[in-house]
Amino acid sequence: MLEFVDAKTRQRDAFRTDVLTGLARPQRTLPARWLYDDRGCELFEAITQLDEYYPTRTETAILSDNARQIANLCGRGAILLEYGAGAGVKTEIVLGTLEAPALYVPIDIAADFLEQTATRMRDRFPRLHVHPIATDFTSDFDIPAHVPAKHRVAFFPGSTIGNLDTAEALAFLQRMRRHVGPGGLAMIGADLKKYIPTLIAAYDDRDGVTAEFNLNLLARINRELSGNFALARFAHEARWNEAESAIEMHLVSLAEQNVTVAGHSFAFNDGETIHTESSRKYSIDSFSELAIESGWQVSATWTDADQRFALFGLSAV
Ligand code: AVJ
Repeated sequence: MLEFVDAKTRQRDAFRTDVLTGLARPQRTLPARWLYDDRGCELFEAITQLDEYYPTRTETAILSDNARQIANLCGRGAILLEYGAGAGVKTEIVLGTLEAPALYVPIDIAADFLEQTATRMRDRFPRLHVHPIATDFTSDFDIPAHVPAKHRVAFFPGSTIGNLDTAEALAFLQRMRRHVGPGGLAMIGADLKKYIPTLIAAYDDRDGVTAEFNLNLLARINRELSGNFALARFAHEARWNEAESAIEMHLVSLAEQNVTVAGHSFAFNDGETIHTESSRKYSIDSFSELAIESGWQVSATWTDADQRFALFGLSAV
């Protein structure tokens, strides 16, 4: 319990530091991971159901449509390491597809969410062993020694890798490579670059769910860091950054205004923005290059008929 309280306090301190330093930068920037508090996770789940947000249903279809080949690549008795314990739909498809998977290792910092995922998978697959690891999967951690070394498959769906810049993505892919060891595999989902208006619509939906998701970050700052953001004085914006090949989410100040957070004051100009998330869009080639640079060989590329999204099957070189 004490450990749990400590983790919460450390998390709060990290949030405070990130917000105070991020708001003081010339281009105010907040790390995207803070979007995902309880309400943020709920809103993200709602986003995945939107007409405009194609990635979730496209990747889910890719996993189902290529089940046989995925099972062949992974082989019998796979140990699935999942980076970020998701809502579980994709995990269930993969675990249901694999031939006698031996062990499922969900890795997530949200300990309560992690337990829920573990329990659900144990119920759904009674013969499967489940060993959750409660850690920040973006940090440099080791897989515990009780996890057998052979047949490891790293699973990183959802295009979450899109939140990382090139250097971070390289480091992450290298760490995964280390985690699975020689002969190990990875399956990684990446969203593909496409017609810009389609991309913009996916991040600025008609119903305003993504706007609420973005603005929730200000509500979280108000709640957890004694902030006084007036939510009505900021607007959601999704924009395309060609140089970064990324959709960016911003919060635009609708007036000249002062905001206080944890006793610190910040002066906003009218039109000035806070950058809250980048979501990189790859091509098959640009992602393959990154994978190869990180010590992987691209064994399979699965995509939908419209080439909206890609799932990469990688083998450790
Ligand atoms: C969870 C990071 C994959 O980038 O598409 C969705 C987050 N942000 N709509 C994405 C998100 C706004 C999502 N990822």
